[in-house]
Amino acid sequence: MTIYTILVESKKSDNNCLAAFAHYPQGRSLVKYAIVGTGSRAELFVSALVNKYRSDHELVALCDSNPQRIKYHQERIRSQFPDVEVQGFNSEDFDLMIRSKSPEVVIVTTVDAQHHKYIIRALQMGCNVITEKPMTTSDQNCRDILRAVDLSGLEVRVAFNYRWGVGVSRVKEILQDSIGPIHHVSLQYLLDTDHGADYFRRWHRNREMSGGLLVHKATHHFDLVNWWTNSVPETVFGIGKLAFYGDGNGPARVYSNRSECSRDGIQHNPFQLDLSSSEKFRGLYKEAQKFDGYRRDMDVFGSGIDIEDTMSVIVGYRTGIQLSYSLVAYSSMEGFVVTFHGDRGRLQYEEIHRPRTRIDEVGRNIDTDEDGWSSTITVQNLFREARHEKVEIAEGGHGGADPLMLRSLFGKETRKDPLQRIAGHQQGAASIMIGAAANRSICEGTPANISELCPELGSASRLSELI
Ligand SMILES: NC(=O)c1ccc[n+]([C@@H]2O[C@H](COP(=O)([O-])OP(=O)(O)OC[C@H]3O[C@@H](n4cnc5c(N)ncnc54)[C@H](O)[C@@H]3O)[C@@H](O)[C@H]2O)c1
Repeated sequence: MTIYTILVESKKSDNNCLAAFAHYPQGRSLVKYAIVGTGSRAELFVSALVNKYRSDHELVALCDSNPQRIKYHQERIRSQFPDVEVQGFNSEDFDLMIRSKSPEVVIVTTVDAQHHKYIIRALQMGCNVITEKPMTTSDQNCRDILRAVDLSGLEVRVAFNYRWGVGVSRVKEILQDSIGPIHHVSLQYLLDTDHGADYFRRWHRNREMSGGLLVHKATHHFDLVNWWTNSVPETVFGIGKLAFYGDGNGPARVYSNRSECSRDGIQHNPFQLDLSSSEKFRGLYKEAQKFDGYRRDMDVFGSGIDIEDTMSVIVGYRTGIQLSYSLVAYSSMEGFVVTFHGDRGRLQYEEIHRPRTRIDEVGRNIDTDEDGWSSTITVQNLFREARHEKVEIAEGGHGGADPLMLRSLFGKETRKDPLQRIAGHQQGAASIMIGAAANRSICEGTPANISELCPELGSASRLSELI
């Protein structure tokens, strides 16, 4: 049996150094990684490790509860690099995987509800962790993670790719000296009937799997506001409802089956997903159904949905800043508008990802990821003309954010990131705790306080005081 050395000597790293973990073993040529959760998102990390970053990093194992999804990634790796064989492990053999393959870092890309389990176990077994957002789905799990990190002396990084978007980074830069101290932020996020609907076909439709969209999706948006304003949230009040999707709703259900649609002159259902339509859907989901029964193409107007599609949240920050946030998951367009008000004026940032959802001639959604993306920053100081700045997006997923985030995780750069875009476990907590507190507030009808729900986060007011 392998003996583990828990690398506690080097304690906390400077978490905004654009370099790999402080706890990487010295003098090794390759840093070893295991990925747990081999669905769609895992592809980003698999591809980075076996392609661009392979000279310094090695993917040594893949782990999932579904063998087909492991096989899908193994076959893709083999087709590109016939000499690279990455061993697969069933989720029940996670410990065995760590013992036999000795990764230094575990990358967690499972369904959200399983993140805490693997983050904590990986730390206990001496591994650093990179986790997809949301870091976890509930206040209790969040507290457990914070305690586990402290006990281990190791590091958890939360893959908040949105921070790396060109437009949102530019907003952070401009905010440092443009409108004075900020008092109020409003953020309206719109998910369209392509992307938004997808959350109601998949595991995300169940709160116990995703924490609902205020955790699963809004964790990105709350993190951006925390980071832009360098503030830690405290008081949260939320309301929410399922208004459009589900089997209990009104006129939108006209789309729920073809015969009704035909009567209305619509021949095909734009909310239906065909899992035969791409190699990825077939390999990751259609052929995987027989192993766990999971359907990725559930009816968005069917029964069993217990999350909201219409949400409003008010947040009071420890710095005194107020946030007014809303999320709608059935909009005719996709994107967001955020407005900051400070002593010297207003900064507004608008990022349109898709001006409309497009369907093809037979009514199926056309995958228009990043089609029609545009970003504009407006700064208007009091008593002055507004100034507009168009932001060009970069190449790569999420408006060019994904490749930059990967570079921060796996690149050789060692200087400090002036925009402090690297997030550790406490900053991950500051974001998911808004969603967890909002969920509680929606349930109980009263505001919820983060310091009571998660005392382990401490009393810092500034996000930069947190790892
Ligand atoms: N940052 C981003 O922009 C972004 C984008 C997409 C997804 N994500 C995140 O990535 C994660 C995965 O999402 P996805 O879209 O790949 O979903 P997915 O459904 O394609 O993959 C999830 C995987 O988890 C596996 N899994 C389920 N239970 C497990 C268990 N007990 N042990 C091990 N594996 C288990 C499933 O079999 C599946 O392979 C989520 O946390 C999601 O929030 C982030």
